Amino acid sequence: MTTACYAVFGQPIAHSLSPRIHAAFGAQFGMAIDYRAIEAGRGELSAALDAFAHSGGRGANATLPLKEDAALLCASLSERAQRCGSVNTLIRDGDRWQGDSTDGIGLLRDLARQAFDPHEKRVLMLGAGGAARAAVFALAGAGARELVIANRTLARAQSLADAVGARAGAWEGLAPESPFDLVVNATAAGHADIPLDLPRTLITPSTVCYDLSYGSAARSFLDWARAGGAVRAGDGLGMLVEQAAESFSLWHGRHPDTGPVHALLRAGS
Ligand code: ATR
Repeated sequence: MTTACYAVFGQPIAHSLSPRIHAAFGAQFGMAIDYRAIEAGRGELSAALDAFAHSGGRGANATLPLKEDAALLCASLSERAQRCGSVNTLIRDGDRWQGDSTDGIGLLRDLARQAFDPHEKRVLMLGAGGAARAAVFALAGAGARELVIANRTLARAQSLADAVGARAGAWEGLAPESPFDLVVNATAAGHADIPLDLPRTLITPSTVCYDLSYGSAARSFLDWARAGGAVRAGDGLGMLVEQAAESFSLWHGRHPDTGPVHALLRAGS
């Protein structure tokens, strides 16, 4: 009989923190978790998941750039995954994969950890890809009063805005009547080390600026935020830990304590 194993699929994937996170969660319950990082690009996920399932794969995470591909490959989707058209968690059920999206709840949990409640807040989302979709639906569900989605490709922002009941804004000339309470960077620009050309008028010192990426990919947006006076500017490391805890709970039926794991990663970063 094969041993159950778990993995994150994406590209690039070598530096993923997910294996460390899941090992630390498992240790809380005295479980040795076999969780790997497997490189797969667009168009390669289906074959990679088949091979993984044959070798004992029981659960998987999908990350950049595979979340929308993962949604298409699953035999069934949770309601929240269906809504946002993005899957970051796959659960093996017999000979099929079930898909779920824990990114949105992960973001909300991390914002709550920082004492930020999106209810009645004005929110700007930068980007309209898979990561943005999960975040936007979660923020709308949490009662954001106004949601503006700005994306390099306006048509993509418009289609997400239509789906969630938000407003799409053009990337150029983003000029709000008043600054936002929360600005979320969900673009992949930081991964390519391309700075976003954003006007300073989007934020005040009280605006919470949040980059869904972490490490060097978040640096340029966070530098912009701090230069604009934002006191609360942070990366997506906390969201990474929180979404992982939700995945862990779906696979193993136990919810780990995220605080110590978050502290461990912060200390090491
Ligand atoms: P993810 O799953 O991480 O969201 P994605 O679906 O490929 O990945 O989406 C990437 C997002 O980053 C998109 O909003 C993309 O804008 P486009 O829809 O116009 O492609 C945005 N993005 C990528 N590079 C960018 C850049 N240099 N400047 C601004 N936005 C960029």
